[in-house]
Amino acid sequence: MANFVRIFDTTLRDGEQSPGCSMNLKEKLEMANQLDKLGVDIMEAGFAIASPGDFASVKSIAKSIKNSSVASLARALTKDIDAAAEALKEAKFPRIHTFIATSDIHMAYKLKMTPDQVLQQAKEMVKYAKKYCSDIEFSAEDASRSNPEFLYKVFEAVIQAGATTINVPDTVGYTSPEEFVALIRGIKQNVPSIDKAIISVHCHNDLGLAVANSLAAIGAGAMQIECTVNGIGERAGNAALEEVVMNLNTRKDIYGVETRINTKEIYKTSKLLSSITGVRVQPNKAIVGENAFAHESGIHQHGMLANKETYEIMTPESIGLNENKLVLGKHSGRHAFEDKIVSMGYELDEDALTKAFEEFKVLADKKKEITDRDLEALVCRKVIQVPEYYKLDRFVINSGNTITTTSCMRLLTKTGHVLEEVVSSYDGPIDASYKAIDRLVGKKFILEDFVINAVTGGTDAQGEVNVKIKNKDRVYNGHGVSMDIVEASILAYISAINSMLYDQEENGR
Ligand code: KIV
Ligand code: ZN
Repeated sequence: MANFVRIFDTTLRDGEQSPGCSMNLKEKLEMANQLDKLGVDIMEAGFAIASPGDFASVKSIAKSIKNSSVASLARALTKDIDAAAEALKEAKFPRIHTFIATSDIHMAYKLKMTPDQVLQQAKEMVKYAKKYCSDIEFSAEDASRSNPEFLYKVFEAVIQAGATTINVPDTVGYTSPEEFVALIRGIKQNVPSIDKAIISVHCHNDLGLAVANSLAAIGAGAMQIECTVNGIGERAGNAALEEVVMNLNTRKDIYGVETRINTKEIYKTSKLLSSITGVRVQPNKAIVGENAFAHESGIHQHGMLANKETYEIMTPESIGLNENKLVLGKHSGRHAFEDKIVSMGYELDEDALTKAFEEFKVLADKKKEITDRDLEALVCRKVIQVPEYYKLDRFVINSGNTITTTSCMRLLTKTGHVLEEVVSSYDGPIDASYKAIDRLVGKKFILEDFVINAVTGGTDAQGEVNVKIKNKDRVYNGHGVSMDIVEASILAYISAINSMLYDQEENGR
């Protein structure tokens, strides 16, 4: 593929920095494997020096990913570059991504450095990183608000020092497509060694233009786009990977370039990220929103029946979204279940499969029609389940609009102990149940977020609950699915607690 645009995914670095999107090591690894399947050219696994947890995740991702290049971010400082190189040691295709700000405001107020010092530091640090690895990316932070003449000088210097990709970030999402095109053209025309490096762009979405700015840059000569799944990222987020890729795919006639992305993995990648972070995309979100392929109005439906292309510019199948069909019933056996899960692209180990099958049987007993969406909700987190330090054994709720609610909660610990507590509350079954769990676990958590959604339509739909709990200053996600929304809420709360305990065990917090 000669004329292809490299897709640099930074979901696990810039994306993970956004509020409520933090992931534990298992979750990052699972996401990294899915990004590899999706076919991203480069995945930024983290910022190795930022914390021991970041270092560990860059290291494990570097070790396990076999197709994509794996990058670690590093400020233009020797200690950062040393940490990045160390974490990337076992990567098949390592990339060190070093950066320094080049705008007057960042140099003066944040770095307290003169432009000459920044130029010198950038050059020296690229040279320093080059001794560790051949693939070096240099980013000029806040490039879109930098003096273009200074930017040209910096880019020329770092390319001569060995940078193989030069990245032009619109760090604060300030630029417009026209202005950005002029900047990229200026770089092409005024950086003498530009042909020795790939031009990359990295756009934030503060004014809603991240994707438009990234795509405009392609026409001006950019050959790498940095983006995140579902557009997660600092503040209003980064350019959304699925939007960038499907634009390039659907409008090859205007962009004239290809990507190496397997677009059929887009839907699954988006779902996996939402289920890990508990952050769902808005229903009308382009490409992966619930309504992105729904045709409601009679006129549209009529057109679609006559010829799909009347209202459909790309097919749901092209992003791996198959029709929500009725798939299995209570008589389906383990083989049929396994075949279906595999055909949906999920790879579960034996234990996860057994657990998912048991849950499927329970569900099939209660729900007449089990669809693709039901199965997705059941299995999509199975591979990343953390150890069950606490497990729900049973609960009984006594509730009504004229009585105080009572929740009788029984949990099993990892070592097989049975714990039981009864709590009454004026605030309903979920409050009573969460208080009972707090007592059993011996801690009081702050409930930061609680979101409940129906997996499908119908009064017998499964309820899917995502919660976020806070302990000290860290937030943990939990996820639960059940036809009974109180049970789904309890399962989500316990899963968040298990996530916290896993984090404490892994990272000694
Ligand atoms: O937005 C930004 O400038 C960044 C750089 C570190 C690439 O994320
Ligand atoms: Zn960024």
